[in-house]
Amino acid sequence: MKKILSLILVVMMLATAVCFVGCGKKNDNTLTVYTEAGFAPYEFIYNNEIVGVDIAIMKAVAEELGKELVVTDVAFDTICTSVQNGKADVGAAGITIRPDRAEQVDFSIPYSSTEQYVIVPVADETIKTLDDLKDKKIGIQNGTTSDMLIADLIADGTLGAAEIIPYTSPAVAAASMNKQTAVVTDKLTAQLIVANDSSLKAFPLVKADGTPAAEVEEYGICVQKGNTELLEAINKVLGDLMASGTIDQWVEEYSAKAKEVGA
Ligand code: ARG
Repeated sequence: MKKILSLILVVMMLATAVCFVGCGKKNDNTLTVYTEAGFAPYEFIYNNEIVGVDIAIMKAVAEELGKELVVTDVAFDTICTSVQNGKADVGAAGITIRPDRAEQVDFSIPYSSTEQYVIVPVADETIKTLDDLKDKKIGIQNGTTSDMLIADLIADGTLGAAEIIPYTSPAVAAASMNKQTAVVTDKLTAQLIVANDSSLKAFPLVKADGTPAAEVEEYGICVQKGNTELLEAINKVLGDLMASGTIDQWVEEYSAKAKEVGA
């Protein structure tokens, strides 16, 4: 009897241990997603709810896994670290796949691509290329690829005494245009910001010779390193959504919704 009891105990302990390893730290039925919801059409607030392309993707993943989706709006520059230390299961925030970030977290297959755009007042005639941003104040969302690009160009002297004005989101940056000459952010977000504000215009950030100031970027969804089970589920859903043209459809749909609410 004693033997059977201890055997049951061992089996129970093993089962718990396996679940802790396999299910991450959260031994429950939720899928926790961190995002930064000031980034239409990928994530923004619509009727008091976080919606967008990334959220629609994660809903499909949660459905596939039979889990409940919990989406939390956090500072963009904390997302990868929170996924790395297991605070969140997933980071879905239009996150550009970069080698330095891939040291921290594992990325899904790419599902969207983008390039760097610049936003200036409609009346501005002075800013046409990267060179024109020399010595200027530039509004940028903290911790983004725009932030890294401009910081590098300041560090190597290309942009002279230019200065980064840090913001929590590109939309907030663009709403404070009097504090800076320009805002740099990803293409679709820039295009939606100016679609909602007739005092602003947006165009690709190019070098003086007209070539792009930075390489094309690709978005990926991130999970904790080694969480292959979750990553495989995400990749499967992304593959299906891309093959059926659903991601493109969602970009259209959520761009229209963002215009509707001025997000
Ligand atoms: N693609 C850029 C990056 O990875 C900007 C992403 C900003 N995303 C957001 N949800 N605010 O740095």
